[in-house]
Amino acid sequence: MKILQVDDLKTYFRSRQGPVRAVDGVSFEIENNKVFGLVGESGSGKTLTALSIVRLIPEGGYFAGGRILFNEKDLLTAEDKDLRKLRGSKISIVFQDPSSSLNPVFTVGYQIAEAILAHQDISHPAAAELALEFLRRVHIADPKRIFHDYPHQLSGGTKQRISIAMALVNSPELVILDEPTTALDVTIQAQILDLLTEIIEKEKLSMLFISHDFGIVARMCDEVGVMYKGKIVERGPTRQVLNSPKEPYTISLLESVKALA
Ligand SMILES: Nc1ncnc2c1ncn2[C@@H]1O[C@H](COP(=O)(O)OP(=O)(O)O)[C@@H](O)[C@H]1O
Ligand SMILES: [Mg+2]
Repeated sequence: MKILQVDDLKTYFRSRQGPVRAVDGVSFEIENNKVFGLVGESGSGKTLTALSIVRLIPEGGYFAGGRILFNEKDLLTAEDKDLRKLRGSKISIVFQDPSSSLNPVFTVGYQIAEAILAHQDISHPAAAELALEFLRRVHIADPKRIFHDYPHQLSGGTKQRISIAMALVNSPELVILDEPTTALDVTIQAQILDLLTEIIEKEKLSMLFISHDFGIVARMCDEVGVMYKGKIVERGPTRQVLNSPKEPYTISLLESVKALA
């Protein structure tokens, strides 16, 4: 069973020179409980592909074609209210910069509890208890103290753990992670990747994992799509793409990774 099917997605931007084809005919599928990776250099259209799935594309952007089926329902033609219900519950996103998903004026515990209350019919004390439970689940040291902290009091790694907790609280079926470790120091990156690996093993989740780093994608993903200039130029099981890349762009991307290693 597949949870997500993207068919010939086209997300363009208006400009005086004519449409900017940011996502230009992208197709891929995510199987239930699998991790699909999108890898490619900066500007290749990875983030816009992710934002298109939840219909949060920036001003000036528009859908020029395609379908996005989530559990067989087309998200591009779904009603706004249905999409609002899906976002943060059945589909959640973790962004590169954890500050963008956390509100500076509320405590961590309050925001997680609010995220729960937005989608679940439970009492405030029960939501607070669940929020605390999720802080433990993402291995926050001293969760009772962090619960009452404001985001600016926390390190980047802790904030990203909290963003991940927020993305999990409503038992999503699909989690989209857009460069979840790119903004972090290398040692913290490794810890967050360990956490994500643990979550993938423990939870019944499907994931779209986006990174410009082939090494990370190779570690995290069952299948991978290589993006270049708004298109997926090569796609397949991660091992197959790694071991016998077919497209010149994939080969050059892999060579640059090897040169760094
Ligand atoms: N707000 C915007 N307005 C106009 N063009 C944009 C905007 N955001 C992105 N783009 C275009 O879309 C392309 C893909 O962007 P993006 O999806 O963010 O790439 P990636 O995540 O792979 O780095 C960019 O190269 C740019 O041309
Ligand atoms: Mg991006």
